[in-house]
Amino acid sequence: MEIPVQEYEAIEVRAAAKEDERAIKLLVRGERLNPLGLRWSRFLVATDNSGIVGAVQLREHFDGSRELGSLVVRKDARGKGVATRLIDALLLTASSRVFMITGAPFAQHYERWGFQRLEPANAPAPVCRNYRFRRFGGALAFLVGRRPNRPVVLVRAAPALLYAVGGAAPRPGRNRRVVPAGIRPPS
Ligand SMILES: CC(C)(COP(=O)(O)OP(=O)(O)OC[C@H]1O[C@@H](n2cnc3c(N)ncnc32)[C@H](O)[C@@H]1OP(=O)(O)O)[C@@H](O)C(=O)NCCC(=O)NCCS
Repeated sequence: MEIPVQEYEAIEVRAAAKEDERAIKLLVRGERLNPLGLRWSRFLVATDNSGIVGAVQLREHFDGSRELGSLVVRKDARGKGVATRLIDALLLTASSRVFMITGAPFAQHYERWGFQRLEPANAPAPVCRNYRFRRFGGALAFLVGRRPNRPVVLVRAAPALLYAVGGAAPRPGRNRRVVPAGIRPPS
């Protein structure tokens, strides 16, 4: 019997380096995500043998609030768990509450990490501002014939609180692995 040979592309998740800055910006801007605050040192990147295939960052706002942002995976690498790996790794470094903004149809997807919906008005001011920025972008996109998803704000409690309230620890995403080498808490 002939065994089919499957091509295996090893995905590595690591802290970004200065040399990754250009690739990160190309990925983020290519998907028209928030172009502001793309400091490379806050990013984790996913790589395979072709280079950088995904990125995510933990924005730290002036008031100390933190926001998971700029989550992007190169089109040809989607649907293989790359974003899941990035989020798993990023949240392992987060010791406080984390906010994020996503399209309403995807809110449920992030429950596995403990994210829950939050009224945008109850979010910290910088997160609320990014939410309004995204809604504004959505309105402009609508005018040129695209149909963007309505954004929602999500929050994940600090890990200590997540476990203290008696709930189960959030189920990590698929392909959970130990913290990859080179990952450090974002500065
Ligand atoms: C969203 C995105 C990062 C997912 O990357 P990925 O590596 O394909 O994700 P994974 O393989 O780990 O997981 C796929 C799941 O993500 C879900 N998902 C979560 N948020 C999503 C989003 N904003 N757009 C599309 N899919 C999303 C999909 O529904 C899919 O769920 P399923 O496995 O139940 O079908 C990728 O589609 C992308 O770069 N999109 C453009 C940029 C973007 O929308 N970023 C998200 C901002 S919150």
